[in-house]
Amino acid sequence: MAISDSKDRSRRSAAVAPVTRSSKPAGAASGGRPVVEFRGVSKHYDGGDVGLDQATFSVVRGEFVFLVGSTGSGKSTVMRLLIKELDATEGTIRVAGHDLEEIARKRVPYYRRNIGVVFQDFKLLPNRTVYDNVAYALQVTGSSRKEIRNKVPDILRMTGLSTKLHNYPDQLSGGEQQRVSIARAFVNHPPLLLADEPTGNLDPETSIDIMRLLYRINRAGTTVLVATHDQTMVDKMRRRVIELSRGRIVRDEATGLYARDETTREFAHRMRGDGTRPPGV
Ligand SMILES: Nc1ncnc2c1ncn2[C@@H]1O[C@H](COP(=O)(O)OP(=O)(O)O)[C@@H](O)[C@H]1O
Ligand SMILES: [Mg+2]
Repeated sequence: MAISDSKDRSRRSAAVAPVTRSSKPAGAASGGRPVVEFRGVSKHYDGGDVGLDQATFSVVRGEFVFLVGSTGSGKSTVMRLLIKELDATEGTIRVAGHDLEEIARKRVPYYRRNIGVVFQDFKLLPNRTVYDNVAYALQVTGSSRKEIRNKVPDILRMTGLSTKLHNYPDQLSGGEQQRVSIARAFVNHPPLLLADEPTGNLDPETSIDIMRLLYRINRAGTTVLVATHDQTMVDKMRRRVIELSRGRIVRDEATGLYARDETTREFAHRMRGDGTRPPGV
């Protein structure tokens, strides 16, 4: 298969010239390796509903992609297919070159370790603190206590939650709860992060902070796929947009990739839209 061929080739070339490789994450414009590939993928639910209809697209390493479309257009179906919560009715889905159809049921938990998932309704454990919610994600994947003690404070610092370690979810604002769920999704540094309507329950200002965090995660090298129907946010972000309508892809545009190199501070400033430069830039 073409995918495994290209993988083998790059592995060989990496072995030959490892020192000269750039550490910069590959973006859409650099023609990187596909992390996600959908080829003619359809999902027909029992009862006849069409979740996805002949969808073909790919996402390369380091991209930040929005999946947009009205309610019922198939965004969550794409996400659920990617985590193998659903199986496609037809077509092929590959993640990092692996055909999802070939992953045995019992291997699915291992496969999912490579994917961070963020939902609209946070899905935090209500009886555990912020620290424990994040630590739990490491425990279930077999991290040692030492690793957990090192990694959790780091990720909580990155997500701006250092002062909330001992709070329970119901003692946090919606934005803070979503940050905990992002911390939990990212603590294993997965190569792929999926967010399904991550700002659906948040006000516009808090939504910007959440998008800023996802942007930082993307800049750190993780490929990010965000489903949303927040058109204002999508317009401001100026990232690639794949639009679904009744399960069909009706638009796939790489918009405004010129902003790829802006810092997260510049990014946040632009998103807030007051037109001035951030202090000190
Ligand atoms: N579990 C399910 N059983 C039957 N139909 C479903 C199921 N989940 C989604 N659908 C249908 O599939 C279509 C796409 O849904 P979904 O992927 O949830 O869209 P979105 O996330 O864009 O709102 C809709 O018509 C929806 O009713
Ligand atoms: Mg949905």
